[in-house]
Amino acid sequence: MRAFVIDAYKKPLHEAAVSETAVGDDDVLIAVAAAGVNGLDERIRTGAFAAFLRYRFPLTLGHDVAGTVLSVGAQVTSFAPGDVVYARPRDHRIGTFAERIAVDQADVAFAPTSVGVAEAASLPLVALTAWQALVERGKVTAGQKVLIHGGAGGVGSIAIQLARHLGAHVATTVSGADVDFVRELGADIALDYRTQDFAAELSDYDLVLDSVGAENLERSIQVLRRGGTAIGISGPPTPAFARQIGLNPALRLIFGALSRTVRARAKKRGVTYEFLFMRPDGAQLRTIADLVDAGALRPVVGATFPFDQAPEALAAARTRSVRGKTVLLGA
Ligand SMILES: NC(=O)c1ccc[n+]([C@@H]2O[C@H](COP(=O)([O-])OP(=O)(O)OC[C@H]3O[C@@H](n4cnc5c(N)ncnc54)[C@H](OP(=O)(O)O)[C@@H]3O)[C@@H](O)[C@H]2O)c1
Repeated sequence: MRAFVIDAYKKPLHEAAVSETAVGDDDVLIAVAAAGVNGLDERIRTGAFAAFLRYRFPLTLGHDVAGTVLSVGAQVTSFAPGDVVYARPRDHRIGTFAERIAVDQADVAFAPTSVGVAEAASLPLVALTAWQALVERGKVTAGQKVLIHGGAGGVGSIAIQLARHLGAHVATTVSGADVDFVRELGADIALDYRTQDFAAELSDYDLVLDSVGAENLERSIQVLRRGGTAIGISGPPTPAFARQIGLNPALRLIFGALSRTVRARAKKRGVTYEFLFMRPDGAQLRTIADLVDAGALRPVVGATFPFDQAPEALAAARTRSVRGKTVLLGA
């Protein structure tokens, strides 16, 4: 089948004929109708995550899929051929930039019925990230104050809507042209990160979701109330994360060094810093689909590309300022 692969870290994405993936007992074989493009695809391509997420080559990229079930393994009872589903396949089984992909049933859910396949494919990775940050880790409740950086991006555009749905007061940072857009998504306060200093303007926040990292994360600590939490998704990773995914002591030490400054600042101010690396979860995707169909979450697709332009789609997600998500349409 046709797929877009890399032959080694740092090598360009290119089309190749690859063999069909075997469909295991717990697998759902999906005809890819659309595949969301994520920063993670580019980070995998460059080898940035090779220390803890090592792949063999040729490697088909792609972490998000929406499409139709073609067949199911012997142990699958919840899905049948013809079902329209969406998923974020688990690590080491990625590869949605292809005509078909076999995904473990635990990672799959019925797609929302009120939106098209491009919109559905835009959701899994970013919506699961927002859910795991705000609901699972942050336990955001009505009336809390939440700051979401990068509100017009893939994660931010869903996180604003989810935080609002949870009843939070939402502040966000964007570049100037996106201020009205994020207000429409539900942000109460929208700050232009190029001209305004969020750390000077905001205080007493319960939670910050930081997708920018580095100094932006360290300054985010200042806007939290005592007992508040900063959740970083762009790093730095922490020793707790290394333990959680079973990394060796050497990597734990490295992650400890990388996150020392921000953890020290957090401790001094009586707040917590956590690194989140999202995980696939079909059950959470079911809830997310229900929220989309109830009108609480609206997928934001800023750009679509035909299948044969997968390299351009990856470059667009990396370099162009796309509101919401970039989506690759199926072959
Ligand atoms: N750890 C995890 O599980 C996980 C999951 C998902 C994503 N991520 C990471 O999180 C980051 C965001 O992901 P995404 O999919 O939302 O990316 P995205 O769609 O490219 O969005 C990034 C957004 O951040 C904005 N931005 C850039 N610099 C900023 C700054 N200094 N302050 C505030 N906003 C700024 C950009 O706005 P302009 O374009 O207008 O500058 C853009 O709207 C990526 O690095 C991604 O790899 C991690």
